[in-house]
Amino acid sequence: MRFLAALVGLSASVQAQEHAFQSIFRPLATPARAEYELSLLVLSICAAIFAVVTGLIIYVIVRFRDRGPITHAEPPQVYGSNQVEIAWTIIPILIVFVLTLATARVTSTIQDREPTASSLQVNVIGHQWWWEFRYPDSKVVTANELHVPAGRMTFLNLQSADVVHSFWIPQMSGKTDVIPGRKNRMWIDPRETGVFLGNCAEYCGAQHAHMLIRLVVDTPEEFDKWTAAQRKNAQMTNSAGETAFLNGQCVDCHTVRGAPASGDAGPDLTHFMSRSTFGSGMLPITIENLKRWLKDPQAVKSGTKMIIDPLSDKDVDAMVEYLMTLK
Ligand code: CUA
Repeated sequence: MRFLAALVGLSASVQAQEHAFQSIFRPLATPARAEYELSLLVLSICAAIFAVVTGLIIYVIVRFRDRGPITHAEPPQVYGSNQVEIAWTIIPILIVFVLTLATARVTSTIQDREPTASSLQVNVIGHQWWWEFRYPDSKVVTANELHVPAGRMTFLNLQSADVVHSFWIPQMSGKTDVIPGRKNRMWIDPRETGVFLGNCAEYCGAQHAHMLIRLVVDTPEEFDKWTAAQRKNAQMTNSAGETAFLNGQCVDCHTVRGAPASGDAGPDLTHFMSRSTFGSGMLPITIENLKRWLKDPQAVKSGTKMIIDPLSDKDVDAMVEYLMTLK
């Protein structure tokens, strides 16, 4: 009991912090709600079948249990009964029919929604192992932490840079595969502000488990402010860290708008510090974690595409200092 209370307390405290408790049973957007209601229907039909079958088994076990000396006579056999056979053919067909129709209805109402002039568009690109978010209208580019406004439809255009991934934020919508050479689409209309967690839901290689999504649902005002800040270029500082960054391998893969760094294989770092985690939600952004990462990314996230020559401690310190200025 005490363990249970502790567990409930723990999940409540985590939930207070952010909506870290991923649950399809607490839907906060239209697609997730429709899918939640459908799953309740499926669950209740399956629960009823379970109850009937289990009840009959228990009844038979009790009613026909062995009560005395063994007899070898066969019990009466039932066969050739048209009524019974029709019943147990028709009933399952009806159940499957109802479930199929209900599922098709939910699927098509979600799929058929088209963007309107007021919808936000975000291009989502799955990479091994991080998420890129591009806002075609505002030209904002960011990674792993997706900002959208509450109460408005956001269409997510899903593409992959390499292998099959799957985009899933349980409280917003079901999973949608992210497939190379194909454009899939999903939409969300979050009703509450807050941070919602999601993850890649299709095995995509060694670090599949470290391909997390943080969805930040802002108020419309906060979202406009965030967009305005993200559109700005970074300021050149001429610091030692900036020089090391721009002269090193970093610029082969990373973009810092406003500086001569326009690599596009890795996350855009222009406003790196506006995010709270890095490594696709793997680690909180702290000086300690950044130093660990820069010293040996492979030791932190084995298999990451960030393969670099070892940096001196002095360069690591300077670069971390520089990264901290990218607000
Ligand atoms: Cu990407 Cu699993």
